Amino acid sequence: MGNNLLKGKKGIIFGALNDMSIAWKVAERCVEEGATITLSNTPLAIRMGTTEELATKLNAKLIPADATSVEDLECVFDESMEALGGKIDFLLHSIGMSPNVRKKRTYDDLDYNLLNQTLDISAISFHKILQVAYKKNAINDWGSVLALSYGAAQRTMYGYNDMADAKAMLESIARSFGYIYGRAHNVRINTISQSPTVTTAGSGIKGFDSLVDFSERMSPLGNATAAECADYCVVMFSDLTKKVTMQNLFHDGGYSSMGMSYRAMEQYIKSFEGLKDEAGNIILG
Ligand SMILES: NC(=O)c1ccc[n+]([C@@H]2O[C@H](COP(=O)([O-])OP(=O)(O)OC[C@H]3O[C@@H](n4cnc5c(N)ncnc54)[C@H](O)[C@@H]3O)[C@@H](O)[C@H]2O)c1
Repeated sequence: MGNNLLKGKKGIIFGALNDMSIAWKVAERCVEEGATITLSNTPLAIRMGTTEELATKLNAKLIPADATSVEDLECVFDESMEALGGKIDFLLHSIGMSPNVRKKRTYDDLDYNLLNQTLDISAISFHKILQVAYKKNAINDWGSVLALSYGAAQRTMYGYNDMADAKAMLESIARSFGYIYGRAHNVRINTISQSPTVTTAGSGIKGFDSLVDFSERMSPLGNATAAECADYCVVMFSDLTKKVTMQNLFHDGGYSSMGMSYRAMEQYIKSFEGLKDEAGNIILG
């Protein structure tokens, strides 16, 4: 049941691939809260995934676009404004992909052409979306823009690879464009730094299941789910957060403020079982 938090608002949601996608849950929640939306994803993702099903369910126009193409993005804004009957009020960038991770290139053996693609898809696409929107004056005053980030932007995480650099850049773009768009049109731009979440993109990360378990044990409130992330996005798109901008907002059950928790320590101690001598000292090997 919605609370009409987005009643009458119009938005564009990028990145719903299937029903595990964070963007899928956000799209559903936005419509539940009274918004009308358009959806966008790459032609390949639309073929491989189930975005069309979501578009039908939510009565949303689905606009194919590669978010690295300025030309494609111009079409997304033109067609969205036509379908929705005017400028938009909110936008979600839920796009991420590392060809280096896909090809199992480690961080000390990156392919630089692939690194450029990682940055273009996962970070620069956010700048392109904002620049196209700005030049077309496509977002209403007091509109709200969000992109999804991850804590590896601040702290090194084993296996997150060049996506960490992309997320750091994504968060920086939110600040840099947040100043310009805020100054000109009172549009706010933020990133939400989400807990590890089981999705198609998430599962590509090395050791992902262990990462999910570790952050669950470390977070006093447990990992935030995709549905909970959708709730947070709705609040950030609503008029209840009009003066929040240029922030990276942690939505991670408290993980980012923790150093060690009892539940993680307990598991860590267990890992030494069988590795102790008779006096109880750890045998270092
Ligand atoms: N799953 C997690 O653990 C987690 C945690 C924190 C942040 N995030 C971020 O959330 C966002 C959404 O990811 P998700 O976990 O829902 O996975 P997902 O795989 O469902 O979504 C990723 C989306 O990016 C789209 N995409 C890839 N290349 C694109 C391109 N060139 N143009 C347009 N779209 C393109 C894919 O088609 C897909 O829909 C990503 O930015 C991801 O990094 C995910």
